[in-house]
Amino acid sequence: MNEDLVLPAPRARSAGADGDPLLEVSALTKHFPVKGGFPIRRTIGAVQAVDGIDLTVHAGESFGLVGESGCGKSTTGRLITRLLEPTGGTVTYRGQDITHANRKELAPIRSEIQMIFQDPYSSLNPRQTVGKIISGPMEVNGIQPEGGRERRVRELLEIVGLNPEHFNRFPHEFSGGQRQRIGVARALALNPKLIVADEPVSALDVSIQAQVVNLLQEVQKELGIAFVFIAHDLAVVRHFSQRVAVMYLGKIIEVGDRDSIYARPRHPYTHALLSAVPEVNLAEEAGAPRERIRLEGDVPSPISPPSGCRFRTRCWKATEKCGTEEPPLIRLSGDHHGHLTACHFPEEPTTEVRQEGVVLDRNPVAPEKDATE
Ligand SMILES: Nc1ncnc2c1ncn2[C@@H]1O[C@H](COP(=O)(O)OP(=O)(O)OP(=O)(O)O)[C@@H](O)[C@H]1O
Ligand code: SF4
Ligand SMILES: [Mg+2]
Repeated sequence: MNEDLVLPAPRARSAGADGDPLLEVSALTKHFPVKGGFPIRRTIGAVQAVDGIDLTVHAGESFGLVGESGCGKSTTGRLITRLLEPTGGTVTYRGQDITHANRKELAPIRSEIQMIFQDPYSSLNPRQTVGKIISGPMEVNGIQPEGGRERRVRELLEIVGLNPEHFNRFPHEFSGGQRQRIGVARALALNPKLIVADEPVSALDVSIQAQVVNLLQEVQKELGIAFVFIAHDLAVVRHFSQRVAVMYLGKIIEVGDRDSIYARPRHPYTHALLSAVPEVNLAEEAGAPRERIRLEGDVPSPISPPSGCRFRTRCWKATEKCGTEEPPLIRLSGDHHGHLTACHFPEEPTTEVRQEGVVLDRNPVAPEKDATE
């Protein structure tokens, strides 16, 4: 971001309405029908992509949503932005129930909720100039900013660290990181209050990822925009998110403020994810050899998830109870307010404790996806 640039004053944290959450999601569910049969195709099952999640995002807050591939992160993002119709539950934005709002009802808030996508290559129209892409949301919503659209586009290019003179160039003339900056500029075009960023850096080179995360962080802080930041691993959201939710097979299994989740995780799955993040491995910080929990088995199918606790087929602590009773997402004794865990037999609040039977990998390795996928 250009240091000389004067940004608008940050919005008050209570932009939702005094102290109220900006976004509230309750028992949100999305089941995709599975068709089969011949000659008549019928619904024979459902992919339980998102299965009853609750979350709250406050104005100006950055909320991280983490979990391995297929756990329902993108579906959650698309439900929040109402690109998908929920099967059940509610989505409330600034006090308004938008769960089943139609196009007309959504029109006034469309500009306030924006999305940044994972792939900066496919999310930009290659035949449009950068100026056209960034001003697209203004055109669609019939917005004529003071000083004209071109001036606003130049301003946005400068905010995201690109040369304002390049508004006439095409996406292929930019690098991957620069293209994602264009995506950020487009998301900012209408002064949104909430941005859902779906793995915004996963497709970028590691060396570029930090730059884009820093840009988003600046944007969030300077402009007071709330973020739902979706990522595969806890390392990416660590510095960006004030609160973090961990998803597994369509459910939130642990949620809390960043420090609680990273320093005092309680769910075995969160422990496993954290053990793959070298920089937050407390055992290592305490001088002990780094141990990595290598989860055994594959993620079960969301068409027929395990009964009781969905993590039980890969959990080293599973008992009979875990197969018959679904653990509620609750605050455990000693945990901070807002730190909730769904587990019958939670871990001690430290990453150092490991249970018998866990497959440990003593070779320090980078947190690639394959460890938990
Ligand atoms: N349109 C759809 N029709 C049927 N199933 C779908 C559809 N979209 C997603 N799914 C399924 O829903 C589940 C959750 O998908 P989703 O894309 O939300 O996961 P994700 O956590 O974003 O994964 P990734 O990290 O790979 O992006 C997956 O099993 C996926 O195959
Ligand atoms: S409820 Fe049981 S299976 Fe699920 S995470 Fe806790 S101990 Fe493991
Ligand atoms: Mg996804």
